[in-house]
Amino acid sequence: MQQIDLAERGERTEHSYLLGYLRELTRGQEIAVLAHDDPRILMDALTLELRNGIYWDVVEAGPPAWRVRVRRREDVAASDLVDLLTRDHLRVDHLFASALHRCNAGDMAAALPCFRVYASCLRRHVEAENEIVVPVLSLPRSPRGDDPTSIMLREHDEIIEHTVMIEEMVDEGMDDAGMLAPFFAIISGQLAKHEWREENNLFPHWVRLLRHDPAIAAELFPRVQALVRAGDEAAASVGIE
Ligand SMILES: [Fe+2]
Ligand SMILES: [Fe+2]
Repeated sequence: MQQIDLAERGERTEHSYLLGYLRELTRGQEIAVLAHDDPRILMDALTLELRNGIYWDVVEAGPPAWRVRVRRREDVAASDLVDLLTRDHLRVDHLFASALHRCNAGDMAAALPCFRVYASCLRRHVEAENEIVVPVLSLPRSPRGDDPTSIMLREHDEIIEHTVMIEEMVDEGMDDAGMLAPFFAIISGQLAKHEWREENNLFPHWVRLLRHDPAIAAELFPRVQALVRAGDEAAASVGIE
């Protein structure tokens, strides 16, 4: 296992020194980070910056030295509901990005299978959030609709609406890449903003509620996991894990 000693970073900050290594981390690889101060705040910041793509645990807690093991998140089973949903965001993103790139390259024959799988995974993800999580983890709602839950539900409707628009165009034979590209671009922007807002404005509340009530967490996890896993085979068929 590769070991990185933060004391050897030279002039660089711990953050930028470690970020360089963690960005390059590949599937199946493990890195040991040796720190001489408590590294948990640093690791949390790096995890956020890498959009939860890494998973770390403290294997030796100092003082005087801390040792942290870092792996790709895909190499570790999802640990809780929010982790599961965050990983599913990445998968929905990858599926959509594959469709988008192929559409931009003018290859609709390759783009459409990715788009179809994206659409089915998106619907299951939205079903999990809207039908399974929201009814159980209740948060205050504002009549103006500007609370995190109302924003999420509204954005789900918008993303699904644009996805259906592309499905209908394709079903009617309007499958020209140039014609579809602007619609793909709209969804691309919507998805990125939506997931960012959810992960930053809503998921921290869900984490808090789930920690407060482990029985609810234990009940919700397998239900959401079953929905997410239902997309595994289809995603693998277009080369996305
Ligand atoms: Fe989500
Ligand atoms: Fe969502």
